[in-house]
Amino acid sequence: MEKKRIVSGMRPTGPLHLGHYFGVLKNWVKLQEEFHCYFFVADWHALTSEYADPKKIKGFVPELIKDWFASGLDPDKCTIFLQSQVKEHAELHLILSMITPLGWLERNPTYKEVKQELISKDLNTYGFLGYPVLMAADILMYRPHFVPVGQDQLPHLELTREIARRFNFLYGDFFPEPQAKLTEAAKLPGLDGRKMSKSYGNSIYLSEDMDSITKKVMSMLTDTNRKRKKDPGDPNVCNLYPYHRLMTPEDTRAEIKENCSKALWGCVDCKKVLLKYLHEFLEPIQKRRQELDKNPEMVTEILDKGYAQAKMAAQENIGLIREKLNLNY
Ligand code: TRP
Repeated sequence: MEKKRIVSGMRPTGPLHLGHYFGVLKNWVKLQEEFHCYFFVADWHALTSEYADPKKIKGFVPELIKDWFASGLDPDKCTIFLQSQVKEHAELHLILSMITPLGWLERNPTYKEVKQELISKDLNTYGFLGYPVLMAADILMYRPHFVPVGQDQLPHLELTREIARRFNFLYGDFFPEPQAKLTEAAKLPGLDGRKMSKSYGNSIYLSEDMDSITKKVMSMLTDTNRKRKKDPGDPNVCNLYPYHRLMTPEDTRAEIKENCSKALWGCVDCKKVLLKYLHEFLEPIQKRRQELDKNPEMVTEILDKGYAQAKMAAQENIGLIREKLNLNY
């Protein structure tokens, strides 16, 4: 039986951190075993907000591929490619823009939020308003069954489905309505307890060295009610414990809980244990990354291979779409 298809992408806006790994990547790595996965670097999407500084985006592209490969994405199991190389996405974006009512885009909650958040950038552009149309094109290009995304992307995916329905209504059934595949991943807070985000400076990066990580972990806030070592702590409100939950073996976790709540351990003891397991977790990831650092041509090889596969599927589908619109000259 043919495998079901999956499409997802990430913008190249910086190095990936543990939040990305546990929130998205870990899931992608699992999905590549079971589905026909298209994972792409959304460099055009990065341009919608970073258009004034495109050099930066270019630098982040190989880094993102390295982070993906290091985390376990395997170019022999999934299609890894760069959005701007597969120009069919742009053609489909144009076609979909013809049938997308402005109201759908203006009402999009993410559009309003991000525009307010990034007041330092002028986002009063055609491209930024059309962000979800481009995303719909990325997705529908491969007629996938599922799209693994975070909660924050759900409004965009809903719009993709609406655009697909409208296309099918106007030109006849063609696109399946792609379903979200939400990660059931536990949330990993940043070092300060807020969401882990590059812009908050509260992240641990997948490519970060252990010395730097040790400094960060040692200065992390823990259970703020625990003023002295002899006060009992509560792992349920401690900011460190979610890290243990994701990286520390279960029996050790039970020990931690006991030692913390009975005030037998101080937070430094607990942090040392975490550093041991963080190290164990990151070591294989960083080893795989070194392979690419030593052979940078591998990044190009991965992208070339993915390009060929994505291009073939995209060309076939865009041909059919042109026919639907009487654009097949
Ligand atoms: N908007 C997504 C994000 O910011 C990136 C993205 C672009 C994407 N195109 C996509 C995700 C298609 C899934 C499918 O994370």
